[in-house]
Amino acid sequence: MENIKLNIEKTLDFISKENLASYESKVRACMETLEKGTGLGNDFLGWLHLPSSISKEHLADLKATAQVLRENCEVVVVAGIGGSYLGARAVIEAMSDSFAWLKEKKEGNPTIVFAGHNIGEDYLYELTSFLKDKKFGIINISKSGTTTETALAFRLLKKQCEDQRGKEMARKVIVAVTDAKKGAARVTADKEGYKSFIIPDNVGGRFSVLTPVGLLPIAVAGIDIDQLVSGAADMEKVCANENLMENPAALYAATRNELYKNGKKIEILVNYQPKLHYFMEWWKQLYGESEGKDNKGIYPSSVDFSTDLHSMGQWIQEGERTIFETVVSVATPNHELHVPSDEENLDGLNFLAGKRVDEVNKMAELGTQLAHVDGGVPNLHVSVPKLNEYYLGQLIYFFEKACGISGYLLEVNPFNQPGVEAYKKNMFALLNKPGYEEASKAIQARLKK
Ligand code: PA5
Repeated sequence: MENIKLNIEKTLDFISKENLASYESKVRACMETLEKGTGLGNDFLGWLHLPSSISKEHLADLKATAQVLRENCEVVVVAGIGGSYLGARAVIEAMSDSFAWLKEKKEGNPTIVFAGHNIGEDYLYELTSFLKDKKFGIINISKSGTTTETALAFRLLKKQCEDQRGKEMARKVIVAVTDAKKGAARVTADKEGYKSFIIPDNVGGRFSVLTPVGLLPIAVAGIDIDQLVSGAADMEKVCANENLMENPAALYAATRNELYKNGKKIEILVNYQPKLHYFMEWWKQLYGESEGKDNKGIYPSSVDFSTDLHSMGQWIQEGERTIFETVVSVATPNHELHVPSDEENLDGLNFLAGKRVDEVNKMAELGTQLAHVDGGVPNLHVSVPKLNEYYLGQLIYFFEKACGISGYLLEVNPFNQPGVEAYKKNMFALLNKPGYEEASKAIQARLKK
């Protein structure tokens, strides 16, 4: 079986091979720190050997629960935010027919919708209206069990589900994914008797896609979680290699850190398949929350090409030269479509007649790579043989392992997110949450100034 491949050739006009080679020992030290659990954030290393330790029984339990939701629901609402949301959405969108939600017959797959990842009143109003005549279920995902966005959406949805489907059916089609002991989501699940799955203590949100956080919604969507885990487990082996040049995660971490040292402060993750849009969102959280601290860190951003070549292309080609690109490129699409020939050739496109649409896409990709490198943008290339569960599993683990190594190279704790609390404290103070009286007074005084 082929693996995903990283090519850094097009960065070597910007950084020297010698400097890159000097990362060999540093990267090895970072990997050892991860393995031995002796570095910062070592309470959160449960993701490191997660793929190879997931048991068949656990997968069977997830699939059986998914089947209950599939059999009893037309729509399943996945409620969660950040790490409790993005991984599932990334895989579901990548593996689903782009127009499935518009089709009458869904081939037994419930429509998956998302909630709890914003506080938009219109969003929630429109969602609850859409659900009014639907047999729907809910997967309530929150590690802390207290995240406001998710808890608020769940409060609305739980009531609606019970009102529409009755208490007994609601109990069958509401599943909780949360902490083993603490948090409101755990209390509710235990009291109501919901089926629940535990998020391991030692796996942080953004590293949790291969726990029930991601695996349950993905299985409900009819996507093969065995293959996803198998791809990740195979990549776990590949990324254990101590040789820098043979370990894609180590090489990616080293290259991006050397680029950062050379003034490339922004990384743009690029796809040429719109289905990967949410994969990029997942990646942005993984790297943004892991590295953006202590006044350091590459700013992770993303674009969908060729769409965004018509919006962001100008900036990337000629704006401030502080960027580099990492392209996730799918070698072979899952479907084949040829450009038809047209006798009149009014649109002048007969030079493309007979070619696969993907050939045009690939030439757009190559042309863009050459133009961007000429324009001063280093380019890393991750080649994915096919867009399927197995390779998505490989990609997930590759980026996770690289993130752990990269964070240690940067000398930050890649596994905490202290900055996320700042807005919450202010929001709770402004909303007069019990326990925030002092903060509330301080913030009111500040607003009066
Ligand atoms: O990576 C993280 O830790 C965060 O993005 C969390 O996943 C997010 O804030 C949601 O938290 P919780 O699962 O506790 O609701």
